[in-house]
Amino acid sequence: MRLNRFLARCGIASRRRSDELIQSGVIRINGEVVDEPGRVVAIGGDQVEYQGRSVVLPDLYEYVLLHKPAGYLVSRGDPEGRPTVYDLVSGLHPGTVPVGRLDMETTGLLLLTDDGDLGYRLLHPRFVVDKHYVAVVGGDPVEEKLDLLRCGIDLDDGPTAPAEIRIDERWGSGFKKRARLSLCIHEGRKRQVRRMLRAVGYPVRELTRVEFAGLRIEGLAEGHYRHLAADEVNRLKSQVGL
Ligand code: URA
Repeated sequence: MRLNRFLARCGIASRRRSDELIQSGVIRINGEVVDEPGRVVAIGGDQVEYQGRSVVLPDLYEYVLLHKPAGYLVSRGDPEGRPTVYDLVSGLHPGTVPVGRLDMETTGLLLLTDDGDLGYRLLHPRFVVDKHYVAVVGGDPVEEKLDLLRCGIDLDDGPTAPAEIRIDERWGSGFKKRARLSLCIHEGRKRQVRRMLRAVGYPVRELTRVEFAGLRIEGLAEGHYRHLAADEVNRLKSQVGL
């Protein structure tokens, strides 16, 4: 990228003012004063300095991890005026969208980004990204039924891939029997976990996504969000071949 454009993109000055700064000899590249506005900067290679400070390009894309509460739609807007996840995150880039969906009543980890390549790959079945859920179900699950999900089961939109599933806790009695299950699936079909568990006789009462592509929701309170750190973004990208 040409130096004047680079400085403007980094927010140092307008393109024209950047030309003046460069010509006045206050910009260094790799320690040497450079006074040609058209000099090409190797992004990630050259070290550009202004007033003794290193000048770096702001991130092109944003990556936001939201702990979605129940009662929020994963949608840009709602004709019925119900709250959406966009009400929870301020100042998003205009092109930032959720990577996949959670049902209105599902809580947990939702990634939002304007990095279309990454978002596309994280959702594509070819890249087999892990999604971990915790579900509270009605009933008293038996392993034989859960084995059906471990092998893959036929839903109305086709067979599911094998799921990992474990019973963590049981409580209650009679009609109030409940169990907490941990599941890991790789697909992201509509209401998939709810439909899988209902198909084997255990309706979901509560559902939370606790992990997605190695990102965990732990430590982030419901309704809160944070931007991913550079190393988290790099790990996400390397999982999907970027
Ligand atoms: N599976 C579901 O059933 N619902 C979700 O929100 C996510 C996965």
